[in-house]
Amino acid sequence: MKYLLLVIFLIIVGCSTSKYFISNEEELYYEKCTGCHRPHDRSEYDSTEWYSIMEKMSKKAHLSDEENRMIIKYLTDSKTK
Ligand code: HEC
Repeated sequence: MKYLLLVIFLIIVGCSTSKYFISNEEELYYEKCTGCHRPHDRSEYDSTEWYSIMEKMSKKAHLSDEENRMIIKYLTDSKTK
């Protein structure tokens, strides 16, 4: 019984820390945007540049509005940190 609780505890900790290190937005970015070219680092462009790049690239990657929003969030988030 104690062992079971420990396992459950480790699963919870494992899930929450992996969420912390890689967000859904980041995962989606690597999934959708690395098929045709290397992943461009978000520091390569500023927010304004990312918006215009994403107009072009979201069509290439066939993103839904939701996916487009998430990836833009990921790409421009770092600029406020
Ligand atoms: C279907 C293939 C394809 C997909 C998917 C794709 N790209 Fe691109 N990307 C290209 C090509 C081809 C270029 C070369 C320049 C061009 O066409 O404007 C490029 C260029 C770029 C550039 C360089 C800047 C520029 O304007 O030339 C960036 C940054 C970029 N892509 C980001 C992304 C992001 C972010 C995504 C995900 C939403 C993505 N790409 C998905 C094909 C793709």
